[in-house]
Amino acid sequence: ALLVGWTRVLFAFQFDERAWRVDAVIGGRPESCQSWQHGGMTQDEAKALVGKRAAEMVEDGMRVGLGTGTTSVMFIKALGERVRAGLKIRCVASSDSSTALGRSLGMDVVTLEELPELDLYVDGADEVCVEPSAGLYLIKGGGAALLREKIVTSAADRFVCVVDESKIVPKLGKFPLPVEIIKMARPRFHQRP
Ligand code: A5P
Repeated sequence: ALLVGWTRVLFAFQFDERAWRVDAVIGGRPESCQSWQHGGMTQDEAKALVGKRAAEMVEDGMRVGLGTGTTSVMFIKALGERVRAGLKIRCVASSDSSTALGRSLGMDVVTLEELPELDLYVDGADEVCVEPSAGLYLIKGGGAALLREKIVTSAADRFVCVVDESKIVPKLGKFPLPVEIIKMARPRFHQRP
């Protein structure tokens, strides 16, 4: 589900035998973004590439949402480097692991109570489907942070989704749709057949 109007997907893909490229999609419209020339690249390197590109979108003074998952880890690490170099930002994270990672890198990661409005939220996705006529669809939550991700997304003006090309699909549905049951509700669901 997309909870903010301004959503951009940054995706890293193998352009040809020697080139990897990061492009953007806004709404359903592809938009050229930036490209890099490299030899081969692993999926992890592609995630790092797109995470670094997203970290470059963060500006001094911004309030930033940190997502959850392996691609978000790359983003947080790249952002941590910028913070170490002097970038001043405040953050809210969508999971305990991202909070811990951000803090370990010297980032000011606080609660949503302390920082209820965010300029930008960056997170990965499990599947991305772009239909030029119908828009943009994502499956998210496979990293088990679905509820908190939705809450942090709802606090943000802009959502940047970071993925490698393996996430781009013609039709959503191969990845099982995550459903999150909060702890309090667990006994109720266990009772049902
Ligand atoms: C977390 O609950 C998810 O929404 C992740 O953002 C999503 O599963 C993508 O994770 P990876 O970047 O690890 O593929």
